[in-house]
Amino acid sequence: MSEPEVIRVADDQHGDYEVIIGHGVLDQVSARVPEAAERVLIVHAPVLAGAADRIAAAATAAGRRPVVQALPDAEAAKTADVAVRLWSVLAESGFTRSDAVIALGGGATTDLGGFVAATWLRGVPVVQVPSTVLGMVDAAVGGKTGINIPEGKNLVGSFHPPAAVICDLDLLRTLPGEDLVAGLAEVIKCGFIADEHILRLAADPVAATDVSGAVLPELIARAVRVKADVVGADLREAGLREILNYGHTFAHAVEQVSGFRWRHGDAVAVGMMYVAELSRRAGLIDDALVERHRAALDRVGLPTSYAVTGDVDARWRALRAAMGRDKKTRGSTLRFVALTAVGAPTRLVGPDERMLREAFDAIRR
Ligand code: GLY
Repeated sequence: MSEPEVIRVADDQHGDYEVIIGHGVLDQVSARVPEAAERVLIVHAPVLAGAADRIAAAATAAGRRPVVQALPDAEAAKTADVAVRLWSVLAESGFTRSDAVIALGGGATTDLGGFVAATWLRGVPVVQVPSTVLGMVDAAVGGKTGINIPEGKNLVGSFHPPAAVICDLDLLRTLPGEDLVAGLAEVIKCGFIADEHILRLAADPVAATDVSGAVLPELIARAVRVKADVVGADLREAGLREILNYGHTFAHAVEQVSGFRWRHGDAVAVGMMYVAELSRRAGLIDDALVERHRAALDRVGLPTSYAVTGDVDARWRALRAAMGRDKKTRGSTLRFVALTAVGAPTRLVGPDERMLREAFDAIRR
């Protein structure tokens, strides 16, 4: 990808915005902040202080007043305490309705930055600058923002679409290999729900994980296009947007039961295996498509099974209870995003308990 790729996300309510994907596009961040903003708050993950300073220097050169704030790492950034601290910084620095926020980091940083922008004076623009594969293809696109509270993740938040999303592929060079691979789970998910060519591209694991090559940028761009099409049609998750949750019902249960020690992408990989096994039992897909899930995930180094040590029945009960708290559940009826074929998502509603347990036994080791 020599020229940056520009993908437009339709948003009738807040205005369309662009996702820019390319090498070295960090220098475009300041120019993407709405012109009226005299002040910009730049929040960043701790390891990205250098990149934040570059954005701040460009903002200063453009005649703006940047305020740079390092956030705690990862999920520790997504708390009410951090939001309160940033609201105070905005107040002390005199931020008005025409000023803006820039959020630079992984999904937790962009979620928090988006939430602070959504709530300051009832909403100021945010430019999202994701630094991880997961952030580029999922968290930073689509306008979901929020924080965690002790009772659960993402329980407080709002839809606040960004003014722009800048995905500088060079930022991925600092990402640990296992985090890059985990991000590919959301990319492969987009392959299964909407774009079969992603699965063909991801079949070459070396190319799919090479930050300097041509394949990883194309995978990211294709996944962003899938997400852009979905959120462009259904920002508020009235229906279609649910398909982005393919594999997530079991994944969220795995994350919760582990006390959030699992990487999200790894949990999504196992969650897709679970729903594939469940869908086979429900007669929606055949053995070959289940095996295609296993091969696609396994090839790039994503997990396809779930290890249980100790009491298997107790673990199943904990996972089953956590699935019952999934946001797609209606009453006590579980609802899964499932497939009838690659690119053909459907819903699997109320599968019987025996089937739910059998699918678990099929992926556990
Ligand atoms: N991560 C799923 C969504 O944005 O809807």
